[in-house]
Amino acid sequence: MITATEILPKFENLLERKAYEKIRREAFDYIARGAGSEATMQENLRAFSKWKIRPRILRNVSEIELSCTLLNQQLSSPLLVAPIGVQRIAYPEGELASARAARQLDVPFVVSSAASYSMEDIANELGDSSRWFQLYCSLEYSVTKSLVQRAETNGYSAIVITVDTPVLGIRETDAHNQYSPLEEGEGFGNYMNDPAFRALLEQSPEEDMNAALQKQIEIIDQPSLDWEELKKVRKLTNLPILLKGVLHPEDAKLALANNIDGIIVSNHGGRQLDHCIASLDALPDIAHVIQKRIPILLDSGIRTGVDVFKALALGADAVLLGRPLIYGLAINGEDGVKQVIQKIHHELEISMALAGVRTVQEINSNFLFKE
Ligand code: FNR
Repeated sequence: MITATEILPKFENLLERKAYEKIRREAFDYIARGAGSEATMQENLRAFSKWKIRPRILRNVSEIELSCTLLNQQLSSPLLVAPIGVQRIAYPEGELASARAARQLDVPFVVSSAASYSMEDIANELGDSSRWFQLYCSLEYSVTKSLVQRAETNGYSAIVITVDTPVLGIRETDAHNQYSPLEEGEGFGNYMNDPAFRALLEQSPEEDMNAALQKQIEIIDQPSLDWEELKKVRKLTNLPILLKGVLHPEDAKLALANNIDGIIVSNHGGRQLDHCIASLDALPDIAHVIQKRIPILLDSGIRTGVDVFKALALGADAVLLGRPLIYGLAINGEDGVKQVIQKIHHELEISMALAGVRTVQEINSNFLFKE
């Protein structure tokens, strides 16, 4: 019988192929594969190819400006590092290495609840550099509260609540590989030393690590989370709150009604609901509802600077980079992450110049043509 690990995957690009050669197969599959038949994952990329850029000419593009403002923060470009947990499976120094890369390039870093390292250790690497914390609202309110308080204390300037994960999607390859990085303790950085989490345990993680990891898996998500419950989290902090995983314009309306400060149009990179709408396809209707009242970010399928251009043209204020950075991390640690970000910055600059745009604020849907 042929096992999943014997079949060579279809690589999306060279970066993915190089990462494949660097890390253990189960870890690669966990990063690269998606939910179910992977229809959404593929659609995320196809959605970008449906749009073409219709360039303008003779517009003096001798100076290109990537800077922008988001939630009153000045950003050097409309790129952020997406929250990706368990980064140690790609590279031993995991988030510590990717955080150093983000700091050097002045790109805001979103730390995952399921990071391999603690938000304190990652903040230490980030120094003065901008950082947000991604929260999985926990089944245990005390843990949610403690995570938010720690984020505030450690200089995180926004809370990203991921709302597309009330339960875990069906990841067939992981099931086949019998692989769960959480069970292996790779996403325990923020829980290991959390006083509220430790208070739930009969024995400390040092005494019984297995029981602690099982507890983390049991409480990491809150399937009953709804708008009412979200109000309680809103009251925990004055930091801006963004919802990650908004795809329906009606939810965008509810986000406005519930005083949410920003939304992230995302389908979790096709890792959750299979046959779900591509992020880029969901963006225009959401932008229409939001009418620039709060910032809109987008992820799921951003691979190049041209993709960033298209997302901004369809109404995003900024985008988050996901898998490409983790491939960079797997290939060459901190330098690998830096190279990927620099490449996307460069592609964005060149695409803007060739499209006849000088600033990211000038990018709009007039520059796009749909087949
Ligand atoms: C993720 N993503 C994610 N999102 C989140 O809110 N919290 C998390 O802990 C994680 N962890 C995670 C691990 C891995 C290995 C991947 C690939 C993704 C989703 C991530 O933030 C983002 O939405 C997607 O990566 C975007 O899709 P692409 O562009 O990477 O395909």
